[in-house]
Amino acid sequence: MSKLWGGRFTKQTDKLVEEFTASIGFDQKLAVDDIRGSLAHVKMLGACGIIPQEDADKIREGLLSILADVRAGRLEYAVENEDIHMNIEKYLIERIGPVGGKLHTGRSRNDQVATDMHLYLRREVKQIIALLADVMQALVDTADAHLDVVIPGYTHLQRAQPVLLAHHLLAYVGMFSRDAERLQDALKRIDILPLGAGALAGTTFPIDRQLVAKELGFARIYENSMDAVSDRDFILEFLSDASILMMHLTRFCEELVMWSSTEFGFVELDDAYCTGSSIMPQKKNPDVAELIRGKSGRVYGNLFGLLTVLKSLPLAYNKDLQEDKEGMFDTVETLRGSLALLAGMIRTMEVRKERLQQVVKEDFSNATDLADYLVRKNMPFRQAHEVIGKLVLYCISNRKFLTDLSMDEYKQHSELFESDVYQVIDIRTVVDARNVLGGTAGPQVRQALERAKGQITSL
Ligand code: ARG
Repeated sequence: MSKLWGGRFTKQTDKLVEEFTASIGFDQKLAVDDIRGSLAHVKMLGACGIIPQEDADKIREGLLSILADVRAGRLEYAVENEDIHMNIEKYLIERIGPVGGKLHTGRSRNDQVATDMHLYLRREVKQIIALLADVMQALVDTADAHLDVVIPGYTHLQRAQPVLLAHHLLAYVGMFSRDAERLQDALKRIDILPLGAGALAGTTFPIDRQLVAKELGFARIYENSMDAVSDRDFILEFLSDASILMMHLTRFCEELVMWSSTEFGFVELDDAYCTGSSIMPQKKNPDVAELIRGKSGRVYGNLFGLLTVLKSLPLAYNKDLQEDKEGMFDTVETLRGSLALLAGMIRTMEVRKERLQQVVKEDFSNATDLADYLVRKNMPFRQAHEVIGKLVLYCISNRKFLTDLSMDEYKQHSELFESDVYQVIDIRTVVDARNVLGGTAGPQVRQALERAKGQITSL
């Protein structure tokens, strides 16, 4: 089969070279975007009188028939035609004859492929933001439905101070809303049109880039043709944002893995989101949460892969740039899968309220409040810290918690203790005492929930 670029060649391409250099195995994902770009390009060629309008119409018809076949999954691709761009162009010429060869007027695969990538990523990033918003919604709904549930708060993975489960979940809503902001910001750099840059220097034809940008809905146009064909920052930015987002997912999934263990027992994940063991009949494993955690590895890898591809690359297009695709596709798919599953996992998980009511009583996480109590009775904080430290030590040696101590035992440690001390160390009092902006007190968390709902609707 002859190549679209075969004119100056006297020999067939080596088979291994064909296989090694072909990208059709993966860039066929760009088929619809490629045709969209071509439709806009040919409309412009006709409108600017660069090719006769009737030729432009024929090409448009041909492209639309190919598009229908792509959508129906009827198109077969050939490795000999190297990539999606030449596969489609070959089909076009096959279907409408030599006039199909006019489509590539004033265009290069270099500005063509860059345009496809911008179109693809713009669409996918918008969908990822929507999936992220759904995860945020699932967290907000779960928080809303469990506003009375208190869980241990940790530092160093040691019990620190109790918090509302809703407060803990809203911390993740905070992370995800920053992720969504980052992706929205990246869209500004994705939403730029490269087409019209030609191979690297522009084109000799009187093209109208504004018309193409309008047709494809691009907000801006690359102002330098060399930058247009060699820029992959917009993909790097997406991969960086995706890496940070994946990192957040690993933190949450790690908590789900811990929370669903016998040791914690804070939540029960739904059977539909867990799997069993081939040998141990009792097992119910949080595979989905683990796998999302594990898949962060490939996303970070994709970021480093592309950073390395781009490092030291001279201007303008180099074949190295073809390596920009698989990592991007893989990251998009990993994010889509992870986010969709996480939303379902959150919505179906059961919060073990009764167990948590017991769990939060069995620690010293109300000790800070006891120190603050003495401070309010005018004792310097450092001294209060020492007194309560001793009190905790006393409890540990006597296998008691602070709520178990008698008034006598309190008085032995400080004369300042009165009977109101029991109210102060009640777990719900402890939570609600942190009534500052951003704190875990019920009224604060209710306000935070409302703010979070607003953030989600604005996405
Ligand atoms: N398949 C190529 C890629 O993905 C398309 C651009 C090829 N351009 C070229 N000058 N060989 O990068």
